[in-house]
Amino acid sequence: MERFLITGGMGFLGSHLSERLLREGKEVWALDLFEPPYARRLREHPRFHMVVDTIMNRGTLEKLVDRCDAVCHLAAIACPDQYVHQTRKTMDIGLRAGFEVIDLVRLTGKFLFFTSTSEIYGRNPDVPWHEDADRVLGSAEVDRWCYSTSKAALEHYIRACQLDEQLDYVTVRVFNAYGPRLRGRVLDKFVDDALEGRPLTVHGDGSQTRCFTYVDDLIEAFVRLIETPSAHNTVYNVGSSVETSILDLAHTISALAGRSPSFEFLKHADVMGESYEDIQRRVPDVSKIERAVGWKATTPLELGLGEMIAYRTEELGLAHA
Ligand SMILES: NC(=O)c1ccc[n+]([C@@H]2O[C@H](COP(=O)([O-])OP(=O)(O)OC[C@H]3O[C@@H](n4cnc5c(N)ncnc54)[C@H](O)[C@@H]3O)[C@@H](O)[C@H]2O)c1
Repeated sequence: MERFLITGGMGFLGSHLSERLLREGKEVWALDLFEPPYARRLREHPRFHMVVDTIMNRGTLEKLVDRCDAVCHLAAIACPDQYVHQTRKTMDIGLRAGFEVIDLVRLTGKFLFFTSTSEIYGRNPDVPWHEDADRVLGSAEVDRWCYSTSKAALEHYIRACQLDEQLDYVTVRVFNAYGPRLRGRVLDKFVDDALEGRPLTVHGDGSQTRCFTYVDDLIEAFVRLIETPSAHNTVYNVGSSVETSILDLAHTISALAGRSPSFEFLKHADVMGESYEDIQRRVPDVSKIERAVGWKATTPLELGLGEMIAYRTEELGLAHA
């Protein structure tokens, strides 16, 4: 595969995937709603094409899918504080447009790479989660599940198309990615607070854990899966196996930014609304991807955070403390 369309190609993961595919010698079309400042450098690349439009525009999608061998479908409303407050938009983009993308890929015989999420498993307490672990979700009256449900519906549809022998695909369930350019998640909020000398805002008591996965490790997994036909037509957890509590994360970021720790604790409901439920632990079983393409996350948290802090320090025009 030589020509790739990346929907959401200027987002956090999309921009890193674009860069990596260009380094591999591929031609890349990035479809996104906006062109961020960091895209300027990419624009100068002769094999990179930026298309500013919405995936809801069928005409644009048709033209772009036609030009490519593979479609990496990343566009989504993916930040928790957006998907709990903008449920209809989350589902319009996540579901309606998602089905359109999949159908276009299916009908044109292209390859599909789809980014699903660890949110799929909901609040299943039996970690680590293997890919066939149960989805344990709350009521459909609770808005936070609209993101998980949209991704799960697309996973079902993708699998159904493949069972009908109409689609070649890989689906990945991403676990808490971080790195330069991340926006709207707990980790970049901590980094900004620490760099700008504010107390770090911890939701809940900070005992909840996540497996933070450095962006370079993730992109390596994506590329290996795409390039290994024997690994196609199934779903993989992609994440670090190292669990870190939110409070430990806050301490580590404060130390790396050269600040003495100072925290403000807020109730989840006060920040995310009454409908939000947090998940205490979210841990992947990554034995499947390890067997398929020999991948494991290798970047230590301190190293990845150091890269992120250095990037943000420069972006904000700050001198490192
Ligand atoms: N970052 C993570 O930790 C994580 C975890 C699980 C799953 N994922 C999935 O990975 C993918 C990428 O996530 P990310 O962290 O890069 O998020 P992101 O928000 O940085 O990127 C998503 C991109 O999609 C674009 N987009 C939204 N609506 C669009 C539309 N109508 N038309 C075109 N583009 C549109 C946004 O502008 C944004 O640039 C998403 O599908 C997300 O659900 C990410």
